[in-house]
Amino acid sequence: MKRARTIGIIGGGQLARMMQAAAIGLGLRVRLLAEGPAVSAAQVVPDTVVGDYTDPATVHSFAAGCDAVTFDHEHVPTGILHDLERAGVAVRPGPDALVHAQDKAVMRARLSALGVPCPDWRVVDTPADLVAFGDETGWPVIAKTSRGGYDGKGVWKVSDAAGAALPFAALDGPLGPTERTADPGSDASGAVILAEEFVPFVRELAALVVRSADGATVAYPVSETVQREGICHETTTPAPGLDAEAERAIRLLATRIADALGVVGVLAVELMERPDGRVVVNELAMRPHNTGHWSIDGAHTSQFENHLRAVAGLPLGPTGVRAPVVVMSNVLGGTRADLDGALARLFATQPDVRVQLYGKDVLPGRKVGHVTVYGDDVATVQARARAASDFLEGRAATPDDWR
Ligand SMILES: Nc1ncnc2c1ncn2[C@@H]1O[C@H](COP(=O)(O)OP(=O)(O)OP(=O)(O)O)[C@@H](O)[C@H]1O
Ligand SMILES: [Mg+2]
Repeated sequence: MKRARTIGIIGGGQLARMMQAAAIGLGLRVRLLAEGPAVSAAQVVPDTVVGDYTDPATVHSFAAGCDAVTFDHEHVPTGILHDLERAGVAVRPGPDALVHAQDKAVMRARLSALGVPCPDWRVVDTPADLVAFGDETGWPVIAKTSRGGYDGKGVWKVSDAAGAALPFAALDGPLGPTERTADPGSDASGAVILAEEFVPFVRELAALVVRSADGATVAYPVSETVQREGICHETTTPAPGLDAEAERAIRLLATRIADALGVVGVLAVELMERPDGRVVVNELAMRPHNTGHWSIDGAHTSQFENHLRAVAGLPLGPTGVRAPVVVMSNVLGGTRADLDGALARLFATQPDVRVQLYGKDVLPGRKVGHVTVYGDDVATVQARARAASDFLEGRAATPDDWR
């Protein structure tokens, strides 16, 4: 396969920033299409173009300088990407795969056709249709905008008929301010409302696979994930208590999806585990994913490196964990604006905690970094990671109170 040496990344958030770190080691050149001159990745990529990723001319002239194009977010209109492909640009993942991460209704239809376990679902056109769905499958139900959602925005738990109008009202406007500096998440144009059975999950899991253009795949150990208010909060890898057979089945499922959709790069499969142990797919992402951030410090090859290897046409790297347990805890904007000062205090007593900061202003609830801890014992490693992120967020006075 033809090697790509200059990789275009569309979107300037923290995922692009962390891809740049991996690109440095691989000797790849990154060219960035960013939403502003000071966004997270623009701070670290010298070859940054500031422009609008929904404008065809902007994207075309950006891509002209690249051997392959990939993404920090999934919101570039597929029409533009099809045009790029026709112009001979390698788009990875391509638009026919990417649409399944852009549109949850398309994703549900395709996964159901492939026989992949999903919650009961239906596209509903009116509040009355949503009520009928709830009456049939049981209340509460989950309603989602098919497009433009992120971090739980665009997802509603609807308890009864009285709440059925709310999701439809949201179709008419943007989904609200985004946590990113860049604002890729609020384009809900073309969205419909997807009704889903409310899954009483015991926990959420995430399976990450990476697929290269020639069809080779690698799969990371399955992670247990905890979301808070719709935002990924913590991951533990490998997922505690998941038996080897179940883990193998989940990895195979994710690999099968990546193959069927023709994904190139990372595919993250978010899953919900039912009380009886069966899993259903929640949604798909086709880019490095928050549930894979543990892999920077905790795996032999990070998801960012493997994503770039796939995009560049390099063989993929091994995905094994470096320690029996790896915990990642997100750092959200809290009361501590001075992350630099906090970092000095954290490292003074916890020098082995791994930290990634995204260069973003600290705003309430915004993802500004993450910490990773690895070791032998799940409870200890989780407690240390939580203590470190609580401290960086300003919710704990010291990072040492984890025993
Ligand atoms: N059918 C369901 N039953 C129960 N809970 C659900 C269901 N669908 C989603 N959820 C919960 O809502 C969260 C957010 O849903 P989803 O991942 O679809 O939204 P999102 O806004 O696209 O999230 P992301 O931040 O991953 O982009 C899930 O992680 C899960 O906790
Ligand atoms: Mg999700």
